[in-house]
Amino acid sequence: MAGALPSNAEVGVIGAGAMGAGIAQIAALAGHAVCLFDTRMGAADQAKAAIGETLAALAAKGRIDRATADAATARITVVHAIGSLVSARLIVEAIVEDQEVKRKLFRELEVVVGPDAILASNTSSFSITALAAGMKHSGRVAGMHFFNPAPLMPLVEVVSGLATDPEIADALYATALAWGKSPVHARSTPGFIVNRCARPFYAEALRVLAERAAEPATLDAVMREAGGFRMGPFELMDLIGLDVNIAVTRSVWEAFFHDPRFTPSVTQHEMVAAGYLGRKAGRGFYDYATAAVRPAPATESPGPKPGRITRHGELRIGADLVARLSASGTASDLAAIDPRFPHGALHVESEGDDAWLVPGDGRTATAMAALAGVRNVVTFDLAFDYAHCARLAVARADTCSDAAFAAAVGGLQAAGIAVSRLDDVAGLIVLRTVAMLANEASDAVAQGIASAADVDVAMQKGVNYPRGPLAWADALGLVLVRDTLNHLASHYGEDRYRLSPLLARRCASKGRLVE
Ligand code: NAI
Repeated sequence: MAGALPSNAEVGVIGAGAMGAGIAQIAALAGHAVCLFDTRMGAADQAKAAIGETLAALAAKGRIDRATADAATARITVVHAIGSLVSARLIVEAIVEDQEVKRKLFRELEVVVGPDAILASNTSSFSITALAAGMKHSGRVAGMHFFNPAPLMPLVEVVSGLATDPEIADALYATALAWGKSPVHARSTPGFIVNRCARPFYAEALRVLAERAAEPATLDAVMREAGGFRMGPFELMDLIGLDVNIAVTRSVWEAFFHDPRFTPSVTQHEMVAAGYLGRKAGRGFYDYATAAVRPAPATESPGPKPGRITRHGELRIGADLVARLSASGTASDLAAIDPRFPHGALHVESEGDDAWLVPGDGRTATAMAALAGVRNVVTFDLAFDYAHCARLAVARADTCSDAAFAAAVGGLQAAGIAVSRLDDVAGLIVLRTVAMLANEASDAVAQGIASAADVDVAMQKGVNYPRGPLAWADALGLVLVRDTLNHLASHYGEDRYRLSPLLARRCASKGRLVE
């Protein structure tokens, strides 16, 4: 494997906006002399001054020492023509996201830099293959995709186009590692790893919202407090900007020739049309006016504490939940698996009416009840950690009585869990999101975009997921993930939910996605 760029090698950064400035800061802190260039008058000087201030602030907080901060700032030189990058060994471009402008820049650079210089693009959306096409030495062109803010986000996707020399990709990987980052290798395909595999995080929430199953505040709270995600999908879209988020979705969808997996949301499109772009517009899924009060998530009022709760079957995903219910004095004996509920169930006895509390499997509670021939089915959503989650989403079959629903809710509340009821949507919210994230990740692996381990690292380090989606699917059991997707596919009758062939195969062979 090719080694990292030596720290005495010069690095050129072109484009001194948000990303370029961050990349220059990282390279300078790693000991490189950095030449920073921007076509906009004064932009590179401003960026250098801002980097100086950031590093001085870090020194004042004791995060780095003053001498390190001063030396790193001094290593950055503002240059006024790309001809000044003649001795750079690595050039990272972070200019405007315009394919033709980037292609032109690479062609100009090719005649400036030495034969062993690496040309890297920070593009989020363009094909590295296309950027390199027609160049004299297309093998030295690769993607070096940082995440925003670059100095804080650990992930770097090292992207290889069809012509990229593997040694160049290895050198970039080793360099990113030497810069303190968590690099992964990816092939140049639409969205690379993260921007592709993260689409379901937004898409499923938008679908559930469009079906009016719950308000954004409720879905966000469930995704955070049950799903273990740092931010809910709606608050995150508001932060990113709905226009930016839909543009990424649209570009991946178009690049995959309108594969329904990636179809953009009409709801989101309508909000963009209205100018409700999120925080920057003062309004998105939430209102950011100074006096606006953030709505509270829908939370069920206290129900009665049920009598006995009997576990039927292993209840694989809910074992920790059962332990929690037992500790609260309700769950008791284990009964044999009830064939009506293949993923297990909890039978909740109460004075009013008994309920079946069943883990979601991609069907609505109403469909589950009809098929099982029982009225009182309440499905519960996936949690990242049932032992500690503060909230859980549930859905109630249309046939379920008030008393039975209250008993099921009361059982969960007795174990200290706040309960948010969603309308009876297939797959609830955390479950369908995680199943679709795993499905997309599985396809990315099957198509050779990245290794399973790298996909999981990318989703944890690039978008802060609490667990890689592939390892998460393995932990849930691939049968549940497969069933969830198949049920969603038949519920909606849409190709969007088609099962990844790799997931289907690993499930059939009782294998794992991360081997
Ligand atoms: P930005 O708009 O903050 O900065 C771009 C800078 O490039 C501007 O200062 C502009 O004057 C300069 N520039 C434009 N054309 C130029 C040229 N031909 N030569 C030299 N300088 C030129 O943009 P930002 O957000 O920093 O993005 C830069 C690149 O990084 C884009 O390719 C973007 O897709 C990618 N990216 C952006 C992320 C983000 O969250 N903002 C995340 C990851 C990648």
